[in-house]
Amino acid sequence: MDAAITITELSVDLLPEAVRLCERALDLPEDAEEAGDIVDALWPRAAADRPVLPLGAYRGDELVGVLLGSVSSADPGLGHVDLIAVLPEQRRQGVGRALLERAEQVLGGRGATELLLAGNPPYYAWPGIDVRYTPAVCAALALGYRQDRTAWNMTADLSYEESPALRSTEAAERRLAERGVTVRRAEPADLPALVAFARSTFGGAWDGELAQSVGRPDAGCHLAERDGELLGFAAYGACRPSWFGPMGTAPAAEGSGIGGVLLRRCLRDQQRESGVEAAQIGWVGPVPFYSGSAGARIERVFFLYRRTLDGK
Ligand SMILES: CC(C)(COP(=O)(O)OP(=O)(O)OC[C@H]1O[C@@H](n2cnc3c(N)ncnc32)[C@H](O)[C@@H]1OP(=O)(O)O)[C@@H](O)C(=O)NCCC(=O)NCCS
Repeated sequence: MDAAITITELSVDLLPEAVRLCERALDLPEDAEEAGDIVDALWPRAAADRPVLPLGAYRGDELVGVLLGSVSSADPGLGHVDLIAVLPEQRRQGVGRALLERAEQVLGGRGATELLLAGNPPYYAWPGIDVRYTPAVCAALALGYRQDRTAWNMTADLSYEESPALRSTEAAERRLAERGVTVRRAEPADLPALVAFARSTFGGAWDGELAQSVGRPDAGCHLAERDGELLGFAAYGACRPSWFGPMGTAPAAEGSGIGGVLLRRCLRDQQRESGVEAAQIGWVGPVPFYSGSAGARIERVFFLYRRTLDGK
């Protein structure tokens, strides 16, 4: 008879084992390939900024499932499940349920009143459950979660030189220069001004992603300024080398072409420096902008779920 399942909190020395499990258990090849970056971002790197709950499910002494949970830094009443994965041959035997129930118990005990099956920026792998992870959608519904939002990523094709995503920015930059606007790569010394600009213009959600991008390997940021005043920025690589974002243009500068230049400068870096062939524009807002400026297409679609933990 199969050994019973036990759920324990994982110590960080088990990270390589958790990565190996995700390489096998994340059914979408693009996620399996990036399992190392995903687990690293959601666990040790995220733990520097917010409470993280890494759970393992064991059958005997074999690790058969992993759940990475966290608490929102913006609202301590919100718990998140950032990742859940069970080995294919161990599914439909209650492992996912046991992991989720433990996460509800522990995060509830730490003050969460709701649990979200949704990304917890700035460290997130996906905005929610990719609809192609259909067993996860079924499990969420079976375990009492309700869908509250839909989100999507767009893909910019960097695999061929003539791609609209790699179109030259030279002419547009010349036009901007005539109007006194300079576009350049951001340096670590720019970070405080970038964070202040992002906060005052768009609210406080992007501090972490900016800090994870500027001057880091396989990541970066470009900015536009006039007379020392920031007009916009675009960043990439914060969570994984293939991811683009966040970006923002000052409302007064919208429509000037700054956004398209910043976007394509980042995509060019991702292709040249990190060898990325398909950039993911995560948790997208303005579809027509990305479609028009870089020929990006909507590709990944996610359902976001939540469940109240009170009165269980
Ligand atoms: C989602 C996942 C973690 C579920 O793990 P699991 O151990 O199979 O889940 P459980 O056995 O506890 O299932 C709980 C309930 O969910 C529902 N469910 C799970 N898989 C299902 C499927 N393939 N079809 C229909 N319902 C399903 C069932 O109601 C099930 O209860 P039941 O077996 O008593 O009917 C697993 O399928 C997985 O690892 N998928 C790949 C990774 C993934 O999608 N992660 C989510 C994105 S991070």
